[in-house]
Amino acid sequence: MLKLRLSICLASAIACCPSITAQPLRQLTDQRGILLGAAADPSHLTEAPYADTLAREFSQLEPENAMKFGPIHPGPSTYNFGPADALVSFARGHNMSVRGHTLVWHNQLPSWVTNGNYSTTQLSGILHDHINAVAGRYAGQVYAWDVINEAFNDNGTLRGTIWSDSPGIGLPGTAYMEQALRWAHEADPQALLFYNDYNAEPVNSKSDAIYKMAQDFLSRGVPLHGIGMQTHFSSRPGSLASIESNIKRITDLGLQVQFTELDVRLPVDSSGNATAADLATQAQVYHDIFALCLKFPLCTAIQTWGFTDKYSWIPGAFPGNGAALEFDRAYQPKPAYTSIQSALQTSPPVISAAALTSAASYANNAVSPGELVVLFGATFGPASLALSQPDASGKIPTQFSDTRLLFDDAPAPILYARVGQTAAVVPFSVAGHANTKVEYEYQGVRSNPVIVNVAPTQPGLFTLDSSGQGPGATLDASFRLNSQTNPAGTGDVILLYSTGGGVTMPASVDGEIPVVAPFPLVSARVTANIGGVDCPVQYSGGAFGLVAGVIQINVQLAPSIPFGQQPISVKIGDATSQSGVTVWVR
Ligand code: XIL
Repeated sequence: MLKLRLSICLASAIACCPSITAQPLRQLTDQRGILLGAAADPSHLTEAPYADTLAREFSQLEPENAMKFGPIHPGPSTYNFGPADALVSFARGHNMSVRGHTLVWHNQLPSWVTNGNYSTTQLSGILHDHINAVAGRYAGQVYAWDVINEAFNDNGTLRGTIWSDSPGIGLPGTAYMEQALRWAHEADPQALLFYNDYNAEPVNSKSDAIYKMAQDFLSRGVPLHGIGMQTHFSSRPGSLASIESNIKRITDLGLQVQFTELDVRLPVDSSGNATAADLATQAQVYHDIFALCLKFPLCTAIQTWGFTDKYSWIPGAFPGNGAALEFDRAYQPKPAYTSIQSALQTSPPVISAAALTSAASYANNAVSPGELVVLFGATFGPASLALSQPDASGKIPTQFSDTRLLFDDAPAPILYARVGQTAAVVPFSVAGHANTKVEYEYQGVRSNPVIVNVAPTQPGLFTLDSSGQGPGATLDASFRLNSQTNPAGTGDVILLYSTGGGVTMPASVDGEIPVVAPFPLVSARVTANIGGVDCPVQYSGGAFGLVAGVIQINVQLAPSIPFGQQPISVKIGDATSQSGVTVWVR
């Protein structure tokens, strides 16, 4: 009997309780460039396993109730900031981001608002003051607000609420939401402002209405930055393809998408337990939502509504259901936890051709041999910036920090890598090709391929800031920066730095930092123009200490150049550098 009990125990331990690996989920989501959040309640922070799990596994928290109108603004001139403050300070202490929830909602309103018989004018003032006080207090601490929650009915019509039309704040249709967004933006100009709702994950009447409103708001400059998908699912979540189409159309507008209140409720017995089969189905749903988010660079956060089955709104709101979260009531990870891990570790990074740009001009129409490029937005990579070093022979590595960038299967030298931003030098082997297949790889997981045009040359001048415009990174012959106080004069030689020079003579070696002259010269003809006047180019090619991919161009100022801040451009072969770069002339 004892023996039997022991083996059942072991079997169930293996089946039910995957161990927490050395890498908590928040480390994995850091590598995916997304935030992993949980709704939290300050009253549980004194419970050690609650606080420990929250801080260890999550990079974001959101007050489950503490920032709602009723709890935070219980009397006309009474604010109860304490509980929300406790969560904000916990988040700060554990380097977590805070989402604010929510400013305009029909639920959890205090009775002084609902029973006040206020006029529209008075309600408008009440809502304005409320948004101003709450968003204003947490400015700089809350990075994103669910400004509006659940304002549409499932059939896509506007929900009638005290704020919209009963009696409302006096603005018809979606105008009251526009007003709330503008007020929130005034109170905290840095915060990302979201519209948040449920049952609007797939394409349906409600998500159509939200999409239409978002399009309208964006076309008129209303401060809306994202759409929150609550994602309160059962184990039959409906069509993933339809959710994907909806995320695609929203992110195509340039808006962020965040999964804000994810949970997957299951039927439970009287002790709150779900079946193993249901837990496995639930794990798959969690996996699918994470994998879906990782397909979109603009899907920026996933948050579960709580994190332990010990504290979840589900049993109260959906009697007979529970077990909806990724940790069980004893804070042990459930199969859902393991499947989230695996989605984060195995979903391919996603890249787009338009996100591969010149590191100097940010042109994204083509790449040229040896060009220094930056790939933005890849959805998997080192969590923090890693700068590569040349090896003993002066070469930049082509595999760095588990990252590779391949051009027709040739790995490019990597200068730095961080999730969402990788700099590399286009291999010279693309020379002569019309286009090249670019793939990105992190920890051996390969992205989708994208096809990028190859130009023989694509000059981009380096500028002083990362805009690709404005004052060029131009030196005088003594290597001092050209500036208003150090302008160049007629006959002076200035040194410009560019990328996209194309092939060189003799051929450059990929990733090599030249240490001794002679340096390879740009093969194509190079000309320069300052203030509308053609100027002689004395030298164009490699330079001491510059990685192949960056070239130096020495230009002598022609006599007739006008004074002041003058536009400067270079032409390499048939291609001209970006406009908007300047040099100071005296
Ligand atoms: C729920 C909380 O989880 C409960 O504790 C509270 O009693 C009611 O509200 N959609 C939302 C959340 O936007 O604010 C709700 O939170 C769940 C549904």
